[in-house]
Amino acid sequence: MSLDEALRKPQDRLADLLSAEMEAVNLLIRARMASRHAPRIPEVTAHLVEAGGKRLRPMLTLAAARLCGYTGPFHIHLAATVEFIHTATLLHDDVVDESAKRRGRPTANLLWDNKSSVLVGDYLFARSFQLMVETGNLRVLDILSNAAATIAEGEVLQLTAAQDLKTDEEIYLQVVRGKTAALFSAATEAGAVIAGAPEEHVRALFTYGDDLGIAFQMADDLLDYEGAAQDIGKNTGDDFRERKMTLPVIKAVAQADAAERAFWVRVIEKGQQADGDLAEAMALLKKHGALEAARADALAHAAKARAALLSLPDSPMRQCLADLADYVVSRIN
Ligand code: IPE
Ligand code: IPE
Ligand code: MG
Ligand code: MG
Repeated sequence: MSLDEALRKPQDRLADLLSAEMEAVNLLIRARMASRHAPRIPEVTAHLVEAGGKRLRPMLTLAAARLCGYTGPFHIHLAATVEFIHTATLLHDDVVDESAKRRGRPTANLLWDNKSSVLVGDYLFARSFQLMVETGNLRVLDILSNAAATIAEGEVLQLTAAQDLKTDEEIYLQVVRGKTAALFSAATEAGAVIAGAPEEHVRALFTYGDDLGIAFQMADDLLDYEGAAQDIGKNTGDDFRERKMTLPVIKAVAQADAAERAFWVRVIEKGQQADGDLAEAMALLKKHGALEAARADALAHAAKARAALLSLPDSPMRQCLADLADYVVSRIN
């Protein structure tokens, strides 16, 4: 690999390696997000889909299938399925989180309403199931339908874990594995399975997706405190306002003295937030090294993801996936 090549974002290198297939995935997404009967559906889906998005998950499916030597057509369906599930969960998530910005644009719940977001999200879920059925492979149906259930479970667990100072790192990890990593690991595992890969490789790609997804969400949660809105395409401070127990907060609460604890009880448990509280929370996160510690955890999961790939044959694609693991945490470095 040339130096220029090495310095390019792994995500862009992956997009180049997979450009023909991603084009097919995007065509399939456009074709299946349409609806003949309800014009609101293409309006909402186009708003979100045309805004871009990194298309990380479908690229993971394509990359896993390729790595495992797949030559058939169905990884395209699986990749589109994965992006549909992702898009459906984003529509629902922005309603639940009352978010106003996504992919640098106003959210669908803001531009239209909650009803449209929920129902169009349901439509996309149903479309994703139609797409995966077309592969005729029961095991990938099992993997992806389990993932859809696990994501919903993670989001619901987060509801009860939020606003509760007893939420610890174990529960946090369960939430993150559910709401985010489940789709990453299903994306890579399904790619390996459709290719008929040996079990050892299926397991390796599952583990890669799982740790990558965890690292990704940990980085996302850090950026919610210290990112810049223009870089992440979403508003910062959403998690604090939603009183979520994300990793930095959990770590700071664990070290709080009595006065600090009273602060966290007021803003997280009672939800009595005033101007200046977010800045105060930031100061406490810094004081206890909570951001640094959360960053270290994210890096550790990225390293585990990278290591999981070692049992697969070396190739430019494998290298690219390994670099992607570092890249998802480079956003917080
Ligand atoms: C956003 O995922 C949801 C999280 C799991 C944090 P992405 O950051 O991959 O979203 P898009 O598709 O690129 O917008
Ligand atoms: C997104 O979770 C995970 C799912 C889409 C299920 P978050 O609520 O933490 O992510 P953002 O910040 O809205 O993208
Ligand atoms: Mg959200
Ligand atoms: Mg959420």
